[in-house]
Amino acid sequence: MPQTFNYVDFSETLTSSLDKSASLSKDRYISEDFMQSEWEGIWTKAWLFAGLESDLLEPGDFFIYDIGRESIVITRNNENEISAFYNVCQHRGNKIVTLESGSFSKVSCPYHGWTYGLDGTLEHVPDRELFKEGVPCEEKSLKPVKVSVWAGLVFINMDENSSSLETFLGPIVDQLKPYKFEKMNLVKHQTVSLLETNWKTVRDNFLEQYHVDFIHPQHASFVDCCDAENDLWPFGHTRTMVTSPVVNPRYSTPDEPPEFMKDYLKGLRLNPDDFHGKVPEIRKAIQKQKRVIGDELGFDFSEFTDDQVSDVLQYDIFPNIFMTIHPERLWIFGPKPHHSDPNKCSFTKWSFQIPSHQVRDESKELELLPGSSFYEQTGSRPEHDIFTREDVVQGRKSLTVTIDQDIHYLNDMQAGMHSKGFDSATLSNDEERLQHFHDWVDNWISKDSLWSKIS
Ligand code: FES
Ligand SMILES: [Fe+2]
Repeated sequence: MPQTFNYVDFSETLTSSLDKSASLSKDRYISEDFMQSEWEGIWTKAWLFAGLESDLLEPGDFFIYDIGRESIVITRNNENEISAFYNVCQHRGNKIVTLESGSFSKVSCPYHGWTYGLDGTLEHVPDRELFKEGVPCEEKSLKPVKVSVWAGLVFINMDENSSSLETFLGPIVDQLKPYKFEKMNLVKHQTVSLLETNWKTVRDNFLEQYHVDFIHPQHASFVDCCDAENDLWPFGHTRTMVTSPVVNPRYSTPDEPPEFMKDYLKGLRLNPDDFHGKVPEIRKAIQKQKRVIGDELGFDFSEFTDDQVSDVLQYDIFPNIFMTIHPERLWIFGPKPHHSDPNKCSFTKWSFQIPSHQVRDESKELELLPGSSFYEQTGSRPEHDIFTREDVVQGRKSLTVTIDQDIHYLNDMQAGMHSKGFDSATLSNDEERLQHFHDWVDNWISKDSLWSKIS
């Protein structure tokens, strides 16, 4: 059975108004003009995932979100609200905050000491009498940026007239409510500092499953990508649902459960030997047993369907993140464009899990996540681990085997875009989610984008 693709219109006629014929010519990956159009039409107009509410627990906690040439400070103010402003001093334009994150009671520019409150209000100007015309505090406060929080995830929007984050996300908000991301703990924060590839090449890679049989051979023993169900939404969001753990139907079903499934079964207190000759029954058995083990470990699966309990769900939120989602864990991935070079980007992965006692109890030999997906939880925020692509290629660092395999290929894709021997991509039916993403890229950068019509 081939993959299915359903266009779901959550905002009247947006989908039917979309031009679905974006050409994937190589220019969109290598041209500085195209990059500039994206800056004007996408990065300064769309809601962008910027960081975590859990990094802003106390008034004064802050983190910086850099995108393009902009730097944005996001902080919890004294009213216990999250606010965001451009990280630029109103005296002469110096960047004020140079740390990635931390805590402050005031925001003070290191150059001449102009000092702002946590809400961005200008509070102190050294030697104020030197400014003969005066310094109007209201006008010279830090310029605000729109900020909104969904499920513990902080989004910013540089367009002060934009519609709300809820309008942007549509049905995604309700669909993902049972997962309660805000109750999960960040267990790893990793960034590949530089990939020599356009940010969309990274998005493309994770928007299709056509490559899976070729570069991820291990997947044949636990997911069925060729039968994935996909939803395509306005503004460029999509999701894909892949059944798991199953053997890819393109291959013959083994008599014995594959190794990955064996580990999974053992952690759930199921005996792999019971599935000799019955491998296709494993998925149903796991769906049932997870609820039993969940009860023992104190994790409640009652709001989840059987499919959600076992399968792989990926949500792609336009433009800057995609999320691999299970009830017990969440991975968020975000390629970020380089500020000036369309041939470069960075790539970050945030890994979350439900609290450790709910994931596994070693004394009872129970676990909801098989070993390869499990991260130890220390109780404190993990450090942001920043490393190079070479670290991944040489095996010194890993974002999990599958992602490492993807990372191997991304630079070569970009190199090909510069060749005289390549003009534009030719997409299969199985790459329709990727086409949808690019149709929306074109729409966002067009003069009358559909988002601008409702903003
Ligand atoms: S530029 Fe910030 S105080 Fe002068
Ligand atoms: Fe992949």
